[in-house]
Amino acid sequence: MGSGTGSNAKALCQAARSNESEYTVELVLATSPDAGICEVARAENVVLEVIPASVKGEEFSTKLCSLLEQFRIDVLVLAGFMRLVSPKVLTYMNGHVVNIHPALLPEFGGKGMYGLRVHEAVLAKGRRETGATVHVVTEQYDEGAVIGQTKVPVYAEDSPASLQQRVKESEHQLYPVAINQYIRDNFRNSVGSGPIADKSAVS
Ligand code: GRF
Repeated sequence: MGSGTGSNAKALCQAARSNESEYTVELVLATSPDAGICEVARAENVVLEVIPASVKGEEFSTKLCSLLEQFRIDVLVLAGFMRLVSPKVLTYMNGHVVNIHPALLPEFGGKGMYGLRVHEAVLAKGRRETGATVHVVTEQYDEGAVIGQTKVPVYAEDSPASLQQRVKESEHQLYPVAINQYIRDNFRNSVGSGPIADKSAVS
């Protein structure tokens, strides 16, 4: 689910075709019909659903939960989704909601830390190293257990845009690997049964 260019969604769809993949991409959810992620869904032949940005709060959560149920989604993967995920959705998914952030959390995360702002902050602090983090989603921005991280060098000549580009390339490598790891760690034989089944209880 996202509203950005969809480069991470593309990387996840492409990696899902590998024989080694623990997951398939059943649905792409976008919050704008014009977002690049919609183009990615079409190109990758994945079902696309759009919940317009004008749909907010309880109405958004209810629509989202009904799609997650309809498509029997086990893990909700955020890739450029800008809003907080509601407690209703987190509860519905049994906590199986993950996100990727373009920095080494817990640093350079939280409300307002998105897009180029993250990389501007890293450069302003004079860091020689940054990276990307895949983490479990909670009710707060960019908190929750870290599933995987990858480090990326910062060069003296970097601009926020060049740094963003380098970090994005590392995100595309990290995200499928981290999702596969998350599935191995949290699911056994019940993948595809939807979040209603309590996977953590399956042995
Ligand atoms: C990525 O940088 C990701 O870390 C952040 O949002 C951006 C989405 O980019 N959460 P894209 O739409 O996948 O290109």
